[in-house]
Amino acid sequence: GKGLAVFTSGGDSQGMNAAVRSVVRMGIYLGCKVYFIREGYQGMVDGGDNIEEANWSSVSSIIHKGGTIIGSARCMDFMQKEGRLKAANNLVSRGITNLVVIGGDGSLTGANLFRQEWSNLLDELLENNKITKDQREKYKYLHIAGLVGSIDNDFCGTDMTIGTDSALHRIIEAIDAIVSTAYSHQRTFIMEVMGRHCGFLAVYTALCTDATYSFICEDPAPLNWDKKIYLALVAALASEADQVFIPEDPVPNNWVEKLCKRLQQERKSGQRLNIIIVAEGAIDREGKPITAELVKKVVVDNLQQDTRITVLGHVQRGGSPSAFDRILGCRMGAEAVMALMEATPETEPCVVSLDGNQAVRLPLMECVRRTKAVAQAMADKNWELAVQLRGRS
Ligand code: F6P
Repeated sequence: GKGLAVFTSGGDSQGMNAAVRSVVRMGIYLGCKVYFIREGYQGMVDGGDNIEEANWSSVSSIIHKGGTIIGSARCMDFMQKEGRLKAANNLVSRGITNLVVIGGDGSLTGANLFRQEWSNLLDELLENNKITKDQREKYKYLHIAGLVGSIDNDFCGTDMTIGTDSALHRIIEAIDAIVSTAYSHQRTFIMEVMGRHCGFLAVYTALCTDATYSFICEDPAPLNWDKKIYLALVAALASEADQVFIPEDPVPNNWVEKLCKRLQQERKSGQRLNIIIVAEGAIDREGKPITAELVKKVVVDNLQQDTRITVLGHVQRGGSPSAFDRILGCRMGAEAVMALMEATPETEPCVVSLDGNQAVRLPLMECVRRTKAVAQAMADKNWELAVQLRGRS
């Protein structure tokens, strides 16, 4: 059977295990010899026990677990040619020419570069007598399929990344808990949620709770936000008193007055508490960070409200995956294996994405390019371009 390996790379996310399980079982079902690569690219470079054949039962009892059972790491060695040569040698010696990489855009970009370099790497290994001529010929094509695992939902091309839904559940649970204590003490809470470059979690948290205000990063990375959900967001905002900053609408210069007015209004109308959501990467139009501390200072200085900050941190990335993420991981994993099995030498690497309710294959590098272009537009404070890039087409 064909040699196929799966690995997880970059920050973990809930649902990665479901994806690993699905890749292993679909691979075995289709007659492949399936391997785990442990600890991401580092395991590929180091080889040895890090690359281990998987069987049907090695992925039993993992679908409900958070994190990734095969480990994940950020790897410096793979950035060096030496490291990639070792990795290629480790793959060829096991007959692995199909890779499923589960990670963020950096991990997927790395995989694509590896593929582009594959032929040269094999030539060099042959020259150094690390592999035989037969191996050089037999394993001359490397096929790659990517799955996006990230709680941030910050990748262009897919409606949802694996882990986002679970993280959202975790955040909402935490806010529901905070609300009761905030109510007792008539407090204002500032909740910092994750999302370095993407306000998705902050916006959707605001949608699912009674949050008064939400600061998001200005990066509208979800080019692909489902239009219907987006319209629902706008409708929710139009019908509710709450106010949310959305990625296309960078925090206005007068945010301090707007925020204070809103908080005052709510208290006057009898509300005993306020919740303000701040994405960890929130910035203003000048690109200056809007931190939870800054927002607290504004609230305390202007309104003298009893105010507390809660930083949710890595709690958001832990715990068991939601039903949605388990199913997403399963579907994407199976689709990735099918893509690899159908690949011809000319087939470009793909990323398996969710489009509406369909698992689809998109050109990996096009999605990475769009994701990077949005980030660049935000870095250039070119909000208009960022908004434009958000379009699906
Ligand atoms: O990309 C996922 C993410 O959780 C971000 O939301 C956050 O900024 C970052 O990873 C934290 O990274 P680390 O786990 O390396 O601290």
